[in-house]
Amino acid sequence: MNELAESLEVLELGTGWVDVIAEAELETEVGVPALVGAHAVAVFRTHDGELFAVSNIDPRTGSSVIARGIVGSRGEIPTVASPLYKEVYDLRTGYCLDDQSKRLEPYEVRIVGGIVQVRGIDGGR
Ligand code: FES
Repeated sequence: MNELAESLEVLELGTGWVDVIAEAELETEVGVPALVGAHAVAVFRTHDGELFAVSNIDPRTGSSVIARGIVGSRGEIPTVASPLYKEVYDLRTGYCLDDQSKRLEPYEVRIVGGIVQVRGIDGGR
């Protein structure tokens, strides 16, 4: 069975957690795009070592670009700015800080055995 089929099987049978990248390969403030089930997700590590996962799809354009966004903060809020039109999103909730009608779907993220894993917030896809 190839790797993709294996992760699909885990999705069907297991908890929904999907391996994304080795923790050691996840650079600070450099987003990593990943597929979680059928969802395009962007995973980030902020300067303080926290991990976040949100949809990789820019809501304004529908392009898979959020992983290439600039990671930063506004006050206490960890953020990512879309590389296209610079909307700034709260990495914790996915909401755009300037327009709450725009949101990146947030995902759960964890590290198990040195591997960064992501799943849908409700444990689903
Ligand atoms: S800055 Fe334009 S939608 Fe947030």
